[in-house]
Amino acid sequence: MSDTPPHLHPLCRYDELTPGESREFPLPGGDTRSLFAVRQQQRIYVYLNSCPHTGVPLNWEEHQFLNFDHSLIQCSLHGAQFRIEDGLCIWGPCLHQHLTALPAHIEGSTVWVDLGALPGQARRSR
Ligand code: FES
Repeated sequence: MSDTPPHLHPLCRYDELTPGESREFPLPGGDTRSLFAVRQQQRIYVYLNSCPHTGVPLNWEEHQFLNFDHSLIQCSLHGAQFRIEDGLCIWGPCLHQHLTALPAHIEGSTVWVDLGALPGQARRSR
């Protein structure tokens, strides 16, 4: 029996995330939404893949969440731009709104994400 709280979910291995890149992950438990992670140097940021403007997924292409120079998260529908470090919209139709951030931490070689912070019903990984 595991001591892992049910809302903690193993997202991926740390070395699967390339610095300066983003990556999409399905949510467990039949949830049709997805998450994405961005790695900057040693830090990992995880967000729900949902634009505050209309609620649609941010990306049109798999794993592509960043602008041309990979300095901001960008919505592919109307171009809203968000800071990577806190998900704040700094340009676009949802200016000053935030992406939904999910706490993440690295333990050993695994990136864990806290799904208890998801809006609506808390999602369980097991
Ligand atoms: S849906 Fe994201 S900016 Fe409009």
